[in-house]
Amino acid sequence: MSLQQPTLANPALNVAEFNQKLERALEALEQRMWDVVASEVNVLQDASRHILGAGGKRVRPRLLFLAYTAMGGAHLEETLDLSAALELIHTASIVHDDINDHGVVRRGRPSVNAKWGRTFALLTGDYLFTKVFELIGRYGELNPILSSATTALVEGETLQAAAVKNHEFTREIYFRIINLKTAALFRAAAKLGAVMAGASREQAEALANFGNNIGLSFQIIDDVLDVTSSTEQLGKTSGIDVAQGRGVAVAFEDSDAHVGEVDPMLSIRAHILNGKTLEEAIFQARRLVEEAIEQIAFLPSSPAKDALINLAHSVTDRTN
Ligand code: IPE
Ligand code: IPE
Ligand code: MG
Ligand code: MG
Repeated sequence: MSLQQPTLANPALNVAEFNQKLERALEALEQRMWDVVASEVNVLQDASRHILGAGGKRVRPRLLFLAYTAMGGAHLEETLDLSAALELIHTASIVHDDINDHGVVRRGRPSVNAKWGRTFALLTGDYLFTKVFELIGRYGELNPILSSATTALVEGETLQAAAVKNHEFTREIYFRIINLKTAALFRAAAKLGAVMAGASREQAEALANFGNNIGLSFQIIDDVLDVTSSTEQLGKTSGIDVAQGRGVAVAFEDSDAHVGEVDPMLSIRAHILNGKTLEEAIFQARRLVEEAIEQIAFLPSSPAKDALINLAHSVTDRTN
């Protein structure tokens, strides 16, 4: 595929100007999300602001902002509501995910279910999802990109629960799950940024593939960290995946390893300690990042392109 370099709509920003613009956009994003969850029903507002105010990496809106700017978009503020919608979908999904996974710590705070109980956590997640409708009204034809990613996320979480229940956690199923539950939203973030900046179909697809690969890698590393890091380091309950018979340690292990064993979990833990399983997972995560970076080779040099490449590397280099 040959991709034309985008014609930059704005004169190239220098690094300092670019960083300042990005920081302003990220601050405006915080404000927008804070404001949009206002409610006269105290528990909805309090629980929403509890999870939003705890921070988080904001990697998905950052990806949208960077894709937009790297494609020559000059009006970041026009993407603000879309980025807020994207981050609220993610936030809703982790509020619900903590109910299912019995996570009691999230973003360094008690999870919503730990603090308010399952019923209000369920409703807070619903509330965050409904706020997405309020934010995306003006984006018209871009809505299907966001809705298909949200559908994929729900399908992925559901497939995961079914795979655990049926003891069918193979590597193939693992990749299908993480593609749906995590990579789809990263794909949408990068694609939305590109489309908003006026990308051609091929260019938007290249950015989408970049996002998808980053998302796969992000989830693999998340699953590695779940095994190797503590709750304090991660700011969320660790050790959940192995305990629930899923994640990278299960997907990347030798599939014949447990045949006939009384307690397969003991063997899984032995594999993890052995280190080979995680090494293989990290190797795959790095390969996905390299493939992602190749996808955006067509972009002209700019601080935003450099930041996209840094973001890609930060996925595998991160510690939380
Ligand atoms: C957590 O996502 C859920 C996964 C897809 C692994 P993040 O690691 O982006 O969570 P926050 O937003 O920084 O808390
Ligand atoms: C990602 O899976 C969850 C979603 C896509 C909602 P995890 O269950 O691994 O996420 P964490 O580790 O709880 O953040
Ligand atoms: Mg979880
Ligand atoms: Mg996890």
